[in-house]
Amino acid sequence: MKGIILHGGHGTRLRPLTHTGPKQLLPIANKPMSEYCLESLKNAGITDIAIIIGGIGSNKVEEYYGDGTSFGVKLSYVPQESPKGIAHAVRLCKDFIGKEKFVVFLGDNIIQKNIQEYVDDFRNSDNAASILLCEVDNPSQFGIAEIENEKIIKLTEKPKIPKTNLAVTGIYFLTPLIFDLIDNLKPSWRNEFEIVDALQMLLDINEKLKYYIITDFWKDTGTPEDILQANKIILENMKNYSYGIKEDGVIIEGNVMIGKGTVIKNGSKIIGPVIIGENCLISDNAHIGPNTSIGDNSKLSNCHIERSIMMKNCKITGNIKIKNSIIASNSDILQRNPNNDEKIFLLGEGTKIIL
Ligand code: TTP
Repeated sequence: MKGIILHGGHGTRLRPLTHTGPKQLLPIANKPMSEYCLESLKNAGITDIAIIIGGIGSNKVEEYYGDGTSFGVKLSYVPQESPKGIAHAVRLCKDFIGKEKFVVFLGDNIIQKNIQEYVDDFRNSDNAASILLCEVDNPSQFGIAEIENEKIIKLTEKPKIPKTNLAVTGIYFLTPLIFDLIDNLKPSWRNEFEIVDALQMLLDINEKLKYYIITDFWKDTGTPEDILQANKIILENMKNYSYGIKEDGVIIEGNVMIGKGTVIKNGSKIIGPVIIGENCLISDNAHIGPNTSIGDNSKLSNCHIERSIMMKNCKITGNIKIKNSIIASNSDILQRNPNNDEKIFLLGEGTKIIL
């Protein structure tokens, strides 16, 4: 079986983070979110993978993953000129897929469960497609499935009045039959070719569409809050390690991962779950955590940062409390006057702030 990872799209809900690159490269626990998809496919034995790229900074995807060798997979890149929908992106892979069954992963979907059993089941079945459903609190934001007698009877993309809260997750098990159906799709009200509409066509022609309801962690990380939630869950499930230097008088509690070359100075406090990348400097009674990721080569002095993601090469100096924030690479925050107010930031790459 082959795999497809969707790495295109608009990423409007994550602006300004997506002004300089695709959302799927935004780090969760210091690793691009699409790398979790790649690992899910690889762990299920799928190593021949096409990545759909398009939009701002799509060259960064190829720069990061290369031909896939260092990730233990073989990668091909398929450009999507403009984001005309998930079904449109899938259709672009017709030649790559040939006659094989395949798995599509939306590059911003993170699933904790190993997908091997679904892959094996699908490989050995005569199902035209399989999908994973998950209960959600906000069903009008998703493709929603209606079920009767253990069969899917209807799929609707982002219904205004959802009949169930069973969302179609962004992991699809498909056969090449889907390409013919996509060729007959009409754009939806939001002018996109919807994969949910193509799956509905399978039902219309009485093809077998299998579903599984998953209860493990799954997240569609389309918004900053989704990313912060995913960051928390991934950090909680990581094994702690420490390759850095901790001075005496440092307080470390809970699950904490510290990269090599990082120095944590006397008086600092790290409350897990927290990951700190390589070559960082944590000093002057800085307080990090819980639920926080700090990227490589960052410097934090005197500040308090909690439930946040700070990417590479950032600097925070001064007596400031930051919470629920995402701060993109090469940003610099300087708090000149001590201030106890909690600050929330959503900062694009290279932002400079003096308070
Ligand atoms: P969405 O999150 O539904 O859309 P989006 O990425 O355009 O973001 P926003 O709504 O914030 O503007 O897309 C789901 C996934 O599919 C995501 O990983 C991006 C990818 N995608 C493509 O690769 N090509 C496309 O044409 C579309 C619409 C999405």
